[in-house]
Amino acid sequence: MIALGSDHAGLPLKREIMALLDEMGLAYRDFGTYTTDSCDYAVFAQRAANAVASGECERGILCCGTGIGISIAANKVRGIRCAACSDCYSAKMTRRHNDANMLAMGARVVGADLGRMIAEIFLTTAFEGGRHQRRIDQIAAIERGEALD
Ligand code: RB5
Repeated sequence: MIALGSDHAGLPLKREIMALLDEMGLAYRDFGTYTTDSCDYAVFAQRAANAVASGECERGILCCGTGIGISIAANKVRGIRCAACSDCYSAKMTRRHNDANMLAMGARVVGADLGRMIAEIFLTTAFEGGRHQRRIDQIAAIERGEALD
């Protein structure tokens, strides 16, 4: 199950991602927003991020105008590693090296086709583990308020 969330600015791109997920045969849950009325991205970031952090959803995809605000908000939820990406290389590497469990994109930054490509790469690329797992563990330690050195 893929968690989806957006604000009003990200709604058109989120709809493109829904179409992609339908084509890929992947189930999703849309945590809003559902209209183009102006709204606050943190609300939808939190709803979708909570679903990923709890295990209800394996991954999440968020959209706002830039992809930045909604990613910052999602990353405040413990256990979330949300990467704001506007290129395919970053999407691939954030899965390989960061085990990102959420992707954020900006509808005012990427077009529909690029957004779909980035999302598909994010959803189909595996984490490499190894030395990268140690770094993920360090990020989790920061979340717990522990000193790394
Ligand atoms: C909304 O105008 C815009 O600020 C929001 O979608 C996002 O880009 C914030 O980071």
